[in-house]
Amino acid sequence: MKVTIFGASGLLGNALMRQWDEDEVVGLSLPEVDIRGADQMRSAVEQTRPDWIVLAAAYTDVDGCESNREMAFAVNRDGAVNVAEAAKRAGPRLLFLSSDYVFDGKKTSPYEIGDARNPQSVYGRSKAEAEVRLLEVMPQCCIVRTSWLFGIGGKCFPDTILRLAAARPTLDVVDDQRGCPTYSVDLARAIIQLCHQGASGIVHVTNAGDCSWFEFAREIVKRAGLSTEIRPVSSQQMARPAPRPAYSVLSSSSLERYGIRTPTWRDALERYLDERRT
Ligand SMILES: NC(=O)c1ccc[n+]([C@@H]2O[C@H](COP(=O)([O-])OP(=O)(O)OC[C@H]3O[C@@H](n4cnc5c(N)ncnc54)[C@H](OP(=O)(O)O)[C@@H]3O)[C@@H](O)[C@H]2O)c1
Repeated sequence: MKVTIFGASGLLGNALMRQWDEDEVVGLSLPEVDIRGADQMRSAVEQTRPDWIVLAAAYTDVDGCESNREMAFAVNRDGAVNVAEAAKRAGPRLLFLSSDYVFDGKKTSPYEIGDARNPQSVYGRSKAEAEVRLLEVMPQCCIVRTSWLFGIGGKCFPDTILRLAAARPTLDVVDDQRGCPTYSVDLARAIIQLCHQGASGIVHVTNAGDCSWFEFAREIVKRAGLSTEIRPVSSQQMARPAPRPAYSVLSSSSLERYGIRTPTWRDALERYLDERRT
């Protein structure tokens, strides 16, 4: 199988490039290809002739999207449509990465794939609109929603906590947002399996289990052997430009339909910390 990955230099792209060894994989990213260019996308797809495209490229600065809306929609929605149209023309299947932020966070039980989208942030809206457009352009595409991604090769929450915890005796972390941390390696492995199985439609992929950012930070510090005190605070106390869903736990039932189960986030965190040490 031939695979082209857009966004290969990002957090997930990095893990995909490292994990995907049984197929012929080409990784592309800025500055060589910009998904905002429809012609560029057509020629990149024609030149690489993949069986599958994995679209991991995105403008992922959630707070930045609030003040740079044009860029958010140009990359996350219109760029994704450019890739889908190029794929439709040349024939490969498409797997697009989306986010738990397409939901409003008002539920108190895990979000299923059919739950209504109601994004609260510009980033969430750009992803939600991309999902709708992609399903129009290419109804058989696969949309993988994930959440709270961490791993080697990019900025992520555990990395920030470890850096801050090494320099401070106390850290305040929000305790009123609940979600599923997801290790880029485990997400990459699930994506590879989904492509091999010819997946289509929406699939939720996260590590198993859920927590608040506070609980996640406390576990990171504990497992790293640091003595920094982690203190729970509310989202109101830590106001940020983009609103985040209070609850964005994604149900694993859509993934289990493919016979795929992911390890717990605690197990994933341990492996991430090991990977970081090597
Ligand atoms: N991170 C999370 O917590 C999270 C949660 C849910 C869903 N997701 C989704 O999962 C996917 C992967 O996320 P990630 O954390 O790996 O993102 P990331 O680390 O920010 O990587 C994004 C990649 O896209 C590239 N890119 C940005 N604009 C581009 C453009 N116009 N044309 C081509 N490439 C462009 C970036 O290149 P440069 O590095 O050169 O800018 C980078 O390689 C994204 O679709 C994201 O929305 C992420």
